[in-house]
Amino acid sequence: MIKNLKRLTFILVLLFVTIVATACNSNGDGDSKSNKNKIDVGIVLPTKDEPRWVQDEQRFKDALKDSKYSTEILFSQGSSAKEKENVESLLNKGIKVLIITPQDGAAAGAAVEAAKKEGVTVIAYDRLITNTDAVDYYVTFDSLAVGAAQAQYLIDNANGSNVPLYLYAGAASDNNAFLFFEGAWKVLQPKIADGTFKLANSSEAEKLKDTAELSRDQLSKIIGQVTTNWDPNEAKNKAQTHLTAAKANLKGNVAILAPNDGTARSIADVFSTDKAVKSFVVTGQDAEKASIQYIIDGKQSMTVFKDVRTLVTDAMGVAVEVLDGKTPDTTGSYDNGSVEVKAKQTDVIVVNKDNVKKELIDSAYYEASEFNGLE
Ligand code: BGC
Repeated sequence: MIKNLKRLTFILVLLFVTIVATACNSNGDGDSKSNKNKIDVGIVLPTKDEPRWVQDEQRFKDALKDSKYSTEILFSQGSSAKEKENVESLLNKGIKVLIITPQDGAAAGAAVEAAKKEGVTVIAYDRLITNTDAVDYYVTFDSLAVGAAQAQYLIDNANGSNVPLYLYAGAASDNNAFLFFEGAWKVLQPKIADGTFKLANSSEAEKLKDTAELSRDQLSKIIGQVTTNWDPNEAKNKAQTHLTAAKANLKGNVAILAPNDGTARSIADVFSTDKAVKSFVVTGQDAEKASIQYIIDGKQSMTVFKDVRTLVTDAMGVAVEVLDGKTPDTTGSYDNGSVEVKAKQTDVIVVNKDNVKKELIDSAYYEASEFNGLE
């Protein structure tokens, strides 16, 4: 009898312990609640596959070392679904400010609307989030100026007339791709019209060669044809296809508008293997280390240096003002298709062989030891 009672008590205690343990474990909410208020600022970047964004991560880490606010950086690996998960996971950690570079500017609307619902302040970082009112601030470089600088470089380095001009663009899901191309086209178009350049790889651009100011629709048509999707492999394949199709009069000394460094290097690699291409001038942007080496080696002509340190400082500056209950200073605004988003904008710097040392080494952006053959 007593033995049975003891056994029953033991079973009951075991049952109780199991129930309590299960309740604690399965209480996901409880778990995240204990984490609540742990993270002040959530940062979501598009992909680790491009040096540009790994660089931003490092610059954020450098800038945040001494911050009194806690932060967490997550990558979306090129997927809008992953991006939404990232935002949700940061919301569960109680973030008050979200700094986000969307993978796809329109698709990110749902993620930032979820953040807004929880009273989070949303800062679009480098890329605008479009067609939603759930963006509070936009910190950005002057993207029209990036495209204009690339175009001007091609003009300044073109000799004679009828120089074949190959156009490439970024991803149509990225609002910046439109701004870069728009900025470039405005500068290039008069030089196409006056015969300095002849278009080599875009029938859509050919149709619009007399139009100086392109509408979003017209930009879409050209970008749709010459997009790289920001993917160096896609850029390489497109360049190969274009060179295979090009007649002799579209070779010789050519000019190439490449939208960024990753795509510029792969396009340059393709053009340098075509014997009928005697020389080429190719643009870029981001001042990626690999492209700085290409510039030193004479394999890429220029890059547009966007000092990410400034963008990080601006983004965190806005975040801290918000956390401190103040109103951040802004310098202008961008229409995202739904609202005018208050913006803080930073200038860009053209870098080629002549000023690479001054702009990137003397400014302590990179160290000389990271490169070979730097004078
Ligand atoms: C950025 C560029 C970058 C590109 C591809 C753009 O939105 O402004 O710096 O090269 O995306 O990631």
